[in-house]
Amino acid sequence: MRSAVALLFGLSATVWALNNGLVRTPPMGWMSWTKFYCETDCVKHPFGCIDENLYMAQADCMEKDGYLAAGYEYVHIDDCWMARERDASGRLFANKTRFPHGIKALSKYMHNKGLKLGIYEDYGTKTCGGYPGSLGHLKIDADTFADWDVDFLKLDGCWVDTDKMPQGYADMGKALNASGRAIVYSCSWPAYLIDQPRKQDYKLISQHCNLWRNFDDISMSFKSILSIINYYDHNQDRQIPYNGPGHWFDPDMIIGGNTEITYNQAKVQMTIWSIWSAPLIMSNDLRTVDEVSKAILQNPEVIAIDQDPLGIMGRLVANTTDIGVYVKPVTPRDTAKNLTSFAVAIFNRSNKKQSVSIQLSQLGLKNEDGYDVRDLWAHGDEGRLRPMDSFQVKLNPTAVYFVKCSLPDL
Ligand code: GLA
Repeated sequence: MRSAVALLFGLSATVWALNNGLVRTPPMGWMSWTKFYCETDCVKHPFGCIDENLYMAQADCMEKDGYLAAGYEYVHIDDCWMARERDASGRLFANKTRFPHGIKALSKYMHNKGLKLGIYEDYGTKTCGGYPGSLGHLKIDADTFADWDVDFLKLDGCWVDTDKMPQGYADMGKALNASGRAIVYSCSWPAYLIDQPRKQDYKLISQHCNLWRNFDDISMSFKSILSIINYYDHNQDRQIPYNGPGHWFDPDMIIGGNTEITYNQAKVQMTIWSIWSAPLIMSNDLRTVDEVSKAILQNPEVIAIDQDPLGIMGRLVANTTDIGVYVKPVTPRDTAKNLTSFAVAIFNRSNKKQSVSIQLSQLGLKNEDGYDVRDLWAHGDEGRLRPMDSFQVKLNPTAVYFVKCSLPDL
């Protein structure tokens, strides 16, 4: 009896966690959904349908146009890649007309270029687009993805009771681990609990998933970007503690490079996503992205803030109707003196020009020796500012000022 009690106690004290060692910095890549959705008519849309050519063409651009070198690594298949049913042994397979060489050939194509392949499934009975879901097939699906040398799984949450998710998403994480292949695990679990915020248990989710969508799908508009920023602003206190290396909030895809948003709007999205240490997963057509957008998407100084090894989700620290000011601790740090460098973003969300003057100390930048300030969009040094100095910024409508404030002499 005593040993049974000890055993029970021992078991309940052991909390299983994903711990796969992956994505120590937020993943970066390209995903088909927001640009190409579920277009399966390749006769009408030969260059814009979900088929193997689309993913290979985007991969070619990632390699030759500098995205891979800038850090974008994953090519993500989204929904609508599958056949309508499983095969006789219960395994998933890709639509044979649109993916005649199968998924394994596609992952090989990516790996030959130094890229990685992401795939999409759904924890429920069906995917959101109506294709076969994983419910009742977790193990065979995890093993199939491993067998195809897939590197990343986005597991959506359509067509299933949300009360099943804590157990179900954990089970898929275990199945992925047991498959023997290192597969990044993205869970859409909390995105299905937006109306039940008390059930968005980020402590638990961060133990079981490498990243997770937690809000509505992004669509091709700045309005949609703003609604995501607004949601994250309002929920930052319960989100910030659970973001970090290996476990990330995913505010959804980067839509810069599409003509539906302006260059300034694309800069705003890149800035705020970097302040959050968010995944940078573009959805656009890399074959048609213009040079200005490309430079925005590949800005190395902005990407470095996103990819900062501390992986901290920055915070909105000052706010008016028109202006939001965000601060994110980044490297280099002086741990002996308990000092850190910061990224600071000042965002004019209004449609009028704004002048902003704000003292560094008011934002928590209190190092007496000051900070060396660098403008990350203009690529210019702004000199040293001390805590009593102010950022004095003139901002165009819907524009952002984004600086790194580095501790001097480190
Ligand atoms: C959900 C997800 C999207 C996309 C679609 C596919 O809406 O949130 O990102 O994967 O399903 O059907």
